[in-house]
Amino acid sequence: MSVKLAIYPGSFDPVTNGHIDIIVRGLKIFDRIIVGILNNPGKDPLFSVDERKAMLQASLKGITGIEIDTFDGLLVDYALHRGAQAILRGMRAVSDFEYEFQMALMNRRLNREIQTVFLMTGLRWIFTSSSIIKEAAQFGGNITGMVPKVVNQQLRNKFAPVSNSH
Ligand code: PNS
Repeated sequence: MSVKLAIYPGSFDPVTNGHIDIIVRGLKIFDRIIVGILNNPGKDPLFSVDERKAMLQASLKGITGIEIDTFDGLLVDYALHRGAQAILRGMRAVSDFEYEFQMALMNRRLNREIQTVFLMTGLRWIFTSSSIIKEAAQFGGNITGMVPKVVNQQLRNKFAPVSNSH
């Protein structure tokens, strides 16, 4: 029997509990999931690719069937190169729909062999996004429970006030 492999692509800047939920639920459909971190310095990420990878590794520790990798260029080319049959994406509110639909149709046009599979986000994570979390964390907001512990700590480190001894 062939192994069902999906790519779960994203910026993961940083990974949230909403992402983790999609990965764990995705494993009920796919035998293996490759979490593909887009290496796109043009997006001016808060965390480097290595930092994002380390946070994903720590957050997904003990979960089998997962690989964490990085990619650049076209997602469908990366999926083909890794032998994946599907792209897994989470969908939150209606606001996600247009962007996701556009991306799925473009990816289908680029490679008809790769199917995009959407999972609706868990209700708990409907308003969770990496960008809103970064904004809250930047101003000292409490984001406990929205991100894995390791991410919470890394965000605190990033936004820790620089001590000034003068
Ligand atoms: O977490 P994000 O930022 O919503 O993820 C977006 C991502 C990485 C899935 C998307 O930007 C992507 O696939 N980029 C690679 C280039 C590509 O193939 N784009 C889609 C077809 S033009």
